[in-house]
Amino acid sequence: MTRGLFVTGTDTGVGKTVVAGAIIAALARRGERVAAFKPVVTGLDEPAAFGWPHDHALLAAAAGSAPEEVSPARFGPAVSPHLAAAQAGTTLDVDGLLEAARAQAATADVLIAEGVGGLLVPLTDTRTVRDFAVALGLPLLVAARTGLGTINHTLLTLEAARAAGLEVRGIVLTPWPDEPSPIERSNRETLERLGGVGVATLGVLASGLPGDLAAAGAELPLEAWLA
Ligand SMILES: Nc1ncnc2c1ncn2[C@@H]1O[C@H](COP(=O)(O)OP(=O)(O)OP(=O)(O)O)[C@@H](O)[C@H]1O
Ligand SMILES: [Mg+2]
Repeated sequence: MTRGLFVTGTDTGVGKTVVAGAIIAALARRGERVAAFKPVVTGLDEPAAFGWPHDHALLAAAAGSAPEEVSPARFGPAVSPHLAAAQAGTTLDVDGLLEAARAQAATADVLIAEGVGGLLVPLTDTRTVRDFAVALGLPLLVAARTGLGTINHTLLTLEAARAAGLEVRGIVLTPWPDEPSPIERSNRETLERLGGVGVATLGVLASGLPGDLAAAGAELPLEAWLA
């Protein structure tokens, strides 16, 4: 079985890429051979923000690999993978994407995969991101927002993961401010208690470039997650 993690999130835009990139960059800096994978990236028509490359480029820079190997399926519109594929007149080859993920894993000692949106996002009419995570057989990390609404979204994600037999290794609240508010502190403690899993936090990064990612990732409980 592959050593690694599947980084999912409670929603799109919650910090999966930042969390995955921080883990990858920290492991790479320690000299581990680390592979990055994200089956599908959409939204490439929208220009990347300064210092924040598109997902496959950010993860590739962190791992020292090629963006096209990180994400074999790439689409311009910022829509769900199944719709992006349909608009392009195609259907995603989920088994082919699983093979590509395993091929990446075979080049390294550890595989860090990022999902697409949340767990129940469709890749095709019959297979979801959750199905992909189950087939890959990696334990999950859940990236989640810090503030109001995150308890419900995060606990729903844990239920959906566990219902499919996925093991959740941890939750990461991101971006975690230097001075968290009372509600943010409470969310952290409440999620730990009700979620039955450790809650880590990722501070505010200045950029998504490898140096900043590695420094932040070194503060995360990587040993415990990858044990
Ligand atoms: N720790 C952090 N420090 C700085 N910015 C952050 C942090 N966490 C999240 N963000 C910001 O939140 C935004 C969304 O983060 P990210 O791209 O990682 O989300 P995602 O869940 O991977 O989204 P997608 O569903 O598009 O893959 C980014 O623009 C990023 O700048
Ligand atoms: Mg992302």
